[in-house]
Amino acid sequence: MSGTIGVALLGAGNIGSGVIAALAAGAARYAARVGQPLELRRVLVRDAARVRHGFRADQVTTKIGDILADDATRIVVELLGGEEPARTYIEQSLRSGRHVVTANKEVMAKFGATLLQVAHDHGVRLLYEASVGGGIPVIAPLSRDLLANEVSAVTAIINGTTNYMLTAMAQQGADYEDVLAEAQELGYAEPDPTADVEGIDASFKLAVLCGLAFNVDLAPADVAREGITGITAQDIAYAHELGYVIKLLASATLIDGEVAATVRPTLVALSEPLAKVDGVLNAVQVEGDLVGRVIFEGPGAGAGPTASSVLADVLDAARDVATGRRPLAFIPRRAVRVRPPEEHEARYYLRMTVQDRPGVLGRIAQVLGDAQISIASFIQYEVPDAPEGTADIVFTTHRAREGALTAAIRAIEQMDVVLEIGNVLPMAG
Ligand code: NDP
Ligand code: HSE
Repeated sequence: MSGTIGVALLGAGNIGSGVIAALAAGAARYAARVGQPLELRRVLVRDAARVRHGFRADQVTTKIGDILADDATRIVVELLGGEEPARTYIEQSLRSGRHVVTANKEVMAKFGATLLQVAHDHGVRLLYEASVGGGIPVIAPLSRDLLANEVSAVTAIINGTTNYMLTAMAQQGADYEDVLAEAQELGYAEPDPTADVEGIDASFKLAVLCGLAFNVDLAPADVAREGITGITAQDIAYAHELGYVIKLLASATLIDGEVAATVRPTLVALSEPLAKVDGVLNAVQVEGDLVGRVIFEGPGAGAGPTASSVLADVLDAARDVATGRRPLAFIPRRAVRVRPPEEHEARYYLRMTVQDRPGVLGRIAQVLGDAQISIASFIQYEVPDAPEGTADIVFTTHRAREGALTAAIRAIEQMDVVLEIGNVLPMAG
């Protein structure tokens, strides 16, 4: 073995600390797998005064210049999160001829195509396995193992925080705020958990998956998005009674050369594999013309699983350094028309609170029928503690266009007998 391969870390938070610990614990094994030992050189943080574990105080810096000036650093691992300064530091590292490993889905979703081109132009690699699905191998399989397929659909649970929350709410009747606090304590949530509960994190990840699965340039803003903040205990209970669970589902389909992409709370039939993906587990289901359906499942957040993906990329880049292997060409992505939500089609679940008197149901059914929306099932519930003379009603529909449904809901909302439209959620399949 000749010399060491220098690695610098940007960020030593939940994930950075996990990577540093695993790098130390597995040092001998990694040296054997790469052919040369890895050496942690510098660690960039925001607060240099804070006491840290796993590295020396003289390794800490707050300046990217210190890392870029160190010739022995060949791999930069970005674990800061957020758009800036992460994007700038990644680009500077690539332009300086370093391989970069990142777990940053926001940067990859917004600037991935540009940065991958920069990496290629400078003969280095930008690796991002940990940016989607935590510890689940999904970026590498989509980039390599499924390359022969025409992928028609990606359906995924790709936010550990919200899946953890929805599972606890469904299985233990847990309170929303309590389970969010638990997910934060466990290190699953983003620094601002709004990104998790509003579906923003999942929309970044879906944009990254679409880039690979369909080879298209899809911006996060192209993903129609709704978070879990409006999901009530009633929705969870009614869905269960109908034979479904509610999951924050990220789905993208390629239809006639156009993409429809959504992140929304969705009813998933209990018989479907995705319905059984609970807690912090994530899953990515891919449908390809040759392979059929494949599902990648595993822990979607947390220090250990994410360090597994980050270090896989670090070892892969280190092998390039050790062997002098050159990166493969970057295949430019194509522009694509993105279907607006009103053109999406699905089956739907509708919950509303109405006055409990004769004729109400008929009037609502008439509005849905006029909009060509066919009702598949209907249930009326008495709600304990609700005002006298009111009831919850839940419809499920056959496949309908979202635009037609939205127009019908607007008309139903105006009816004097309708007190509240509770929720309108798509149903998978
Ligand atoms: P944390 O907030 O725990 O850690 C962020 C680290 O980056 C801290 O060490 C912080 O410094 C440092 N940092 C942040 N901003 C700056 C800045 N402007 N300048 C210098 N240092 C800065 O985040 P996580 O470890 O949870 O997440 C890191 C990345 O990994 C994110 O992109 C996240 O989306 C991704 N990820 C997270 C997963 C998880 O389960 N948490 C799973 C998969 C991916 P200081 O310590 O001084 O505050
Ligand atoms: N906050 C993210 C989640 C971390 O909960 O899934 C993993 O990317």
